[in-house]
Amino acid sequence: MINPQMPPVMISPSLLAADTAVLGEAVSGIQRAGADAVHIDVMDGHFVPNLAYGPDVVRALKKRTTLPLDVHLMVSDPAFFIPIFLKAGADWLTFHVEAAGDKTGELLHLIAQSGAMPGLSLSPGTPVEAVLPYTDQCGMVLVMGVMPGFGGQPMHPDTLARIAAIRRAAGPRLHIEVDGGVRMDNAADIRAAGANILVSGTAIFAANDRESAIKTMRGEGK
Ligand code: DX5
Ligand code: ZN
Repeated sequence: MINPQMPPVMISPSLLAADTAVLGEAVSGIQRAGADAVHIDVMDGHFVPNLAYGPDVVRALKKRTTLPLDVHLMVSDPAFFIPIFLKAGADWLTFHVEAAGDKTGELLHLIAQSGAMPGLSLSPGTPVEAVLPYTDQCGMVLVMGVMPGFGGQPMHPDTLARIAAIRRAAGPRLHIEVDGGVRMDNAADIRAAGANILVSGTAIFAANDRESAIKTMRGEGK
């Protein structure tokens, strides 16, 4: 960790890479393997060219795990979906600054008022300055390492510099989450840049030993 005051390092495996036929078992399995949260991607086929998990899935998984449900909305109309996913049981709820425009502040407030942790995400190509005015209202900023929509892509090379810029501007309190292209061999650099929540789909679900993959990403053992 670059700063002893920084929030703890946490690993949030992305269910996009899990076997969707047995999602409940996937969640129980990553909890046993030591995950800190469960990352659930929501895609509307409009903000991104893919479709993924609806509120019924969140509601069902809530009964299967005590881990925080880390719900990532990749939708064009976050104002419509936020109340739905709060009701379904999201513990951390993140939407994209590109979609929310001048409603960003009010939507962060709505999430915070419900007791969930508000998160704001930015895609590669969106200047970090777009989220900086809101960091005081955010529990976390989610820096996308890839264009949202699909797992298994390599991390965009300027992601580390973007994480570092947000950490510098926002200070140690903010959770900075990174999503897309997180692997065992780049996790240390991602943590050193100032991120403390690592989302990983492919690298965790493809690992033979998920417990050791999670430990490696957290910077333990090895
Ligand atoms: C991409 C999703 C990610 C995705 C990451 O739009 O938001 O959560 O599952 O997948 P990997 O870890 O395979 O890059
Ligand atoms: Zn995601």
